[in-house]
Amino acid sequence: MDSEEIKRQWLLQNETICICKGIPRKRFMHAIRKGATSLQELNRILGSGSGDCKGERCAPAIERLLASYRGQNKNGSK
Ligand code: FES
Repeated sequence: MDSEEIKRQWLLQNETICICKGIPRKRFMHAIRKGATSLQELNRILGSGSGDCKGERCAPAIERLLASYRGQNKNGSK
């Protein structure tokens, strides 16, 4: 992996998904890998969805993360 790829991966993992609460993608992915399977569960575990927008901004992105993870697992990779 070259330095540009490392930088790209770092930026991706640290991208803020829940802006109101400042929660990055890597925290969502960690919770999903530990077994969280729904938006409600992630919101309860991480506190996302409880900011000023009440999840209006982050819920679609969280649902996409869940769907993406499910799709990856369906193909046998994690
Ligand atoms: S962006 Fe997550 S609660 Fe507003």
